[in-house]
Amino acid sequence: ALAAAAERIAAEFEYPKEQVQKGVTAFMRQMDEGLQVQGATLSQIPTYVTAVPNGTEKGLYMAVDLGGTNFRVCSIQLHGNSTFSLTQSKVKIPGDLMTAKTSHELFSFLAKQVETFLKTHHGEHYSSHVERRKKSSMLSGESYSDEDVFSLGFTFSFPVQQYGINKGTLIRWTKGFDIPDAVGKDVCALLQKELDALHLPIRVAALVNDTVGTLMARSYTSPGKTGTLLGAIFGTGTNGAYVEKLSRLTKLAKMGPEAGDVETSTGEMIVNTEWGSFDNHLSVLPTTSFDRTLDAASNNPGIQMFEKRISGMFLGEILRRCLLALIHDPSTPLFTDEHSNQNDMHSTTNIHDDSPLYRPHGLDTSFLSIASGDASPGLKVTRQALDIEYGVSAASAEDAEAVRLISSAIGKRAARLSAVAIAAVVLSTGKLTNTTGNADDDTIDIGVDGSLVEFYPNFEDYLREALREVPSIGPAGEQRIRIGIAKDGSGVGAALIALVAERERAGGN
Ligand code: BG6
Ligand code: GLC
Repeated sequence: ALAAAAERIAAEFEYPKEQVQKGVTAFMRQMDEGLQVQGATLSQIPTYVTAVPNGTEKGLYMAVDLGGTNFRVCSIQLHGNSTFSLTQSKVKIPGDLMTAKTSHELFSFLAKQVETFLKTHHGEHYSSHVERRKKSSMLSGESYSDEDVFSLGFTFSFPVQQYGINKGTLIRWTKGFDIPDAVGKDVCALLQKELDALHLPIRVAALVNDTVGTLMARSYTSPGKTGTLLGAIFGTGTNGAYVEKLSRLTKLAKMGPEAGDVETSTGEMIVNTEWGSFDNHLSVLPTTSFDRTLDAASNNPGIQMFEKRISGMFLGEILRRCLLALIHDPSTPLFTDEHSNQNDMHSTTNIHDDSPLYRPHGLDTSFLSIASGDASPGLKVTRQALDIEYGVSAASAEDAEAVRLISSAIGKRAARLSAVAIAAVVLSTGKLTNTTGNADDDTIDIGVDGSLVEFYPNFEDYLREALREVPSIGPAGEQRIRIGIAKDGSGVGAALIALVAERERAGGN
């Protein structure tokens, strides 16, 4: 009974070929709409970044990166030969700050981390400049010259309406963050204020989404003849940024004089799609009862519907809901021992009452990777993880097989859905039809980052399989797509954008 029930649940996550194609068509349509009007489902946010790097950029920059799970502070020395050295510190974002009462609590925490980083890794700079600044501000409240001020790229991985390279207001929180007073505020200004309060010699020079940073970093480290087309994150959240023709970004001209006045020699701009919100109205997305209850219980129901089927913040929670359905159904005894004696059959459960499986978001997506990839005899590894992490003692091989089957189905659907986004970007930019016949020139380069693509077994294989199934891509098109991990790329990417911003500020190019 258990095996059949697990198969039934797994089958609910199938996402067949025809659906993939339908998804791609709808995605391309929603991309177009987002380029034309403000407030569309796909936000298609102009980033004011109009060129990708070519590897020759040089200099010392700082970057901070508020992603989904971690906060990083980095300093990056760009060497100018497609290489860089990175010094970084990383802390897990404290859960209570994600839903803090005021944005001041979050941003002052970020500034404090920057201060600690400067003291630790750039002590000389810290003592010569910060001490001087503190003293002179006490004496006269004067402002300082630009000398020795670090330019900082701020990777802020949430939907922001950008008004310039270092200006942008938060549209909405995603990935479990919820600090209402920050919505509508300029997040660069919020950070700058807290850095200034600590007298740190730092100018927030660029505001960067993690996808944009990933795209820049990939372009810097693997500059091909054609550059990188797309930077994508498959981690706690999912999103992509790509190089678009300005002529197609028609809404830019309607966004006011400041916004519309973009000079670019390339005729292109990087656009942050915010594809996590693709098809929020569910016209084409596959939906199971587990997706529905997950969304209803989330802090942003009806939003980020694509992300809720793909990314690390949610896959573990989908699995947990599937497992609970089996646990609670007496006809499908998951994690249960059945004993019979002469006249009677009874069962005992193997789950502790305080198992994290009973808590919302108690099941980590990393467990999905463990179960899906488990090749150990009798699925010993999965059973051990269930025991140690999830309070399930003595799970049977049959239990573990049910868990593995459902985990794989959820992960495979996520990878196939991810292919929809990649296919749509490749097709709508016309990259497949512009061929030169030279394999090097015809490669379409994509940089990716995030825990899911890094750790979920066969993520890229499943994704590629779905790409081949899209008729206008096919095996030949799929082969032209090169996907490379840009690990921790967004820090470097932010530094690169800070460099561009600094040049513009100085009036050079
Ligand atoms: C990191 C980047 O490597 O990956 C972040 O520096 C990004 O900017 C993150 O948000 C995405 O991965 P995850 O799994 O932490 O969400
Ligand atoms: C969420 C955010 C988006 C970010 C993505 C990946 O979708 O809204 O801005 O790029 O997560 O971190």
